[in-house]
Amino acid sequence: MKLVELIYTSRMTAPMSMTDIVHLLDGARSHNTREGLTGMLTFGSESFLQAIEGPPDAVNRLYARILRDPRHTRVMLLGYRPIPHRRFSTWAMGFYAYGLDGSLARSGLPHDRFDPESMSLDQAVALLADMATQMEFATA
Ligand SMILES: Cc1cc2nc3c(=O)[nH]c(=O)nc-3n(C[C@H](O)[C@H](O)[C@H](O)COP(=O)(O)O)c2cc1C
Repeated sequence: MKLVELIYTSRMTAPMSMTDIVHLLDGARSHNTREGLTGMLTFGSESFLQAIEGPPDAVNRLYARILRDPRHTRVMLLGYRPIPHRRFSTWAMGFYAYGLDGSLARSGLPHDRFDPESMSLDQAVALLADMATQMEFATA
């Protein structure tokens, strides 16, 4: 099966509570499971960073919906490319609050502010993959 990954960053339009995030994730996970999508979402300093992976048509359809979502703005595509296999195969949409458990410290990025707009694609992917690994440990 052909697979692609899409990584983007965006800014929240209004502050979101944990309840709002849980609600967003509930919807995202049931939709993604139906569509064969997996990925990882993180947020901090009012920014989101998300990786979505799966069949190109499903990824494209979801990205079109995400672009229209009024909960965020300034959606900036960091990368879109074919991948040989999934990085986040166990996550219908993993979530990790940026800065938790030293994720900032290990990423080698500035500690004071989460600024995914200034990340390279490789930095963004490495950070999300690192978060997913920590979650595997946390739930093992
Ligand atoms: C930061 C962010 C990440 C999102 N991630 C997903 C996702 O992974 N899967 C999903 O189905 N919806 C996700 N959504 C929600 C979609 O934007 C959209 O609200 C949802 O798919 C319903 O679309 P519809 O209202 O056009 O039917 C996300 C929204 C935001 C703001």
